Amino acid sequence: MDFRHQQTTAAGVAAFNADALLLVVAGTKLPSDLPRPLAQAVQAAVDAGDLALENGRSLYLGRQSGVKAPRLAVAVAGDASPRVIKSALAQGLAQLKGLGGKHVAVWLSGVGSVGAAHAEALSTATADAVYVYRHTKPSASAGSKLAKVTLLCARADETAVAEGLKRGAAIVAGVTLAREVANRPANHCTPTMLGEHAEELGRTMKLKVEVLGRKEIEKLGMGSFLAVSQGSDEPPRFIVLRYTGAPDTEAPVVLVGKGITFDTGGISIKPSGDMDEMKFDMGGAASVLGTLRAVAQLKARVNLVGLIPTCENMPSGKAIKPGDVVKSLSGQTIEILNTDAEGRLILCDALSYAERFKPRAVVDIATLTGACVVALGHHRSGLFTPHDELAQTLSAAGDAALDPCWRMPLDAEYDDVLKSNFADMANVGPRAGGAITAAMFLKRFTRKLRWAHLDIAGTAYKSGAQKGATGRPVGLLTHFVLAQAGGG
Ligand code: BES
Ligand code: MN
Ligand code: ZN
Repeated sequence: MDFRHQQTTAAGVAAFNADALLLVVAGTKLPSDLPRPLAQAVQAAVDAGDLALENGRSLYLGRQSGVKAPRLAVAVAGDASPRVIKSALAQGLAQLKGLGGKHVAVWLSGVGSVGAAHAEALSTATADAVYVYRHTKPSASAGSKLAKVTLLCARADETAVAEGLKRGAAIVAGVTLAREVANRPANHCTPTMLGEHAEELGRTMKLKVEVLGRKEIEKLGMGSFLAVSQGSDEPPRFIVLRYTGAPDTEAPVVLVGKGITFDTGGISIKPSGDMDEMKFDMGGAASVLGTLRAVAQLKARVNLVGLIPTCENMPSGKAIKPGDVVKSLSGQTIEILNTDAEGRLILCDALSYAERFKPRAVVDIATLTGACVVALGHHRSGLFTPHDELAQTLSAAGDAALDPCWRMPLDAEYDDVLKSNFADMANVGPRAGGAITAAMFLKRFTRKLRWAHLDIAGTAYKSGAQKGATGRPVGLLTHFVLAQAGGG
């Protein structure tokens, strides 16, 4: 997708040459900056009862006299905030879906000054509108011919718009990579193949990539991660990606992504309904790859490390059993009471490994608990961290990216349920507060780190007719990493 911007006068909007013009009207009155032919077209639709100037409404108006573009679509945004503008853009692009035309010009009317956040919202809304998964379904129609989007801006801050489009394009590339990888079925995205994706990303974006196999993982002493992998015939991988955008002396940000390429639950097996969705249990890993893609594309002045422990969670004669005790890389022992609480078992060893980078911050990203979906639904990811400032920065990054999260508690009182008579800790507590106790488990491995955990079980993918990976939280993470570079 080619994203551009062009400075124009109001009159120039109607005269602009594109295959379609998408007009977003911010507010619930006809804005005064609307050029005559567009004002007339919208007013006529309102008078005819076809369009109400209410948030969320949109209409396809086709060819209109005085408008150079042969197709006109209108979308109404209740206000000029990037969040509301983005959903109006999505509505408007849906009106143009399936029509001819490769080049859409967009005009945000009534917004006043168009900023970087509006421009970024246009990029991400466009990407959402055109993405189609085709890797194992090449017959799927491309859905849209859209290849070029021009943001027309009358009084805009041109440098801010250019900056927003550039950041948006990088996030789109990262989100698209994350969706592509996460959507692949588990027989097309094994730990080995995930390692190959990482190596390919390394080649295209000039990252240092190491992919460790079982022997090397054993040598490191990652007994907890290995225990999860032992039930599967697919060998595990531990992937290390490094982007160096700042001097070596600068402490890196480390992102740790859960890479369970399929989660059957193991011996504590899951019910079969919807089990196919457990191919998305590597959404955290996919978001780490996507974020590295975005940050490297932006050439951000920051050092970034991605760590991905990846394996399958399978039942078999070799699989871990409830009650088994394993020793983690940290030296702490774990009684595995439920083999379906496997994410924390692979993450804890990766978090211990993160210590060697002496990072400025470590964020793990995981489809970790069904309990987090119960708590927060599918809109906000769960954010857990004992560090207030890190919580603040990550929340702000989520808001700015329109990829929001919500902070959850980590009081010491929640830790009691992890006590075990047979090991330093159990891997599960009771059902109540399950998202929090999972985070409390991880916290036991982060004493030496400035750490945060994002539970993306509710936000990494959609179920039902829209089933598929969302690419979240690549937007949030990219904004967070850029903020660490002082370039947010
Ligand atoms: N991958 C699942 C979490 C999950 C559930 C993600 C639903 C997306 C949708 C995780 O490995 C898991 O099975 N968690 C258990 C933990 C429990 C055994 C303490 C869960 O949430 O049920
Ligand atoms: Mn599980
Ligand atoms: Zn899982």
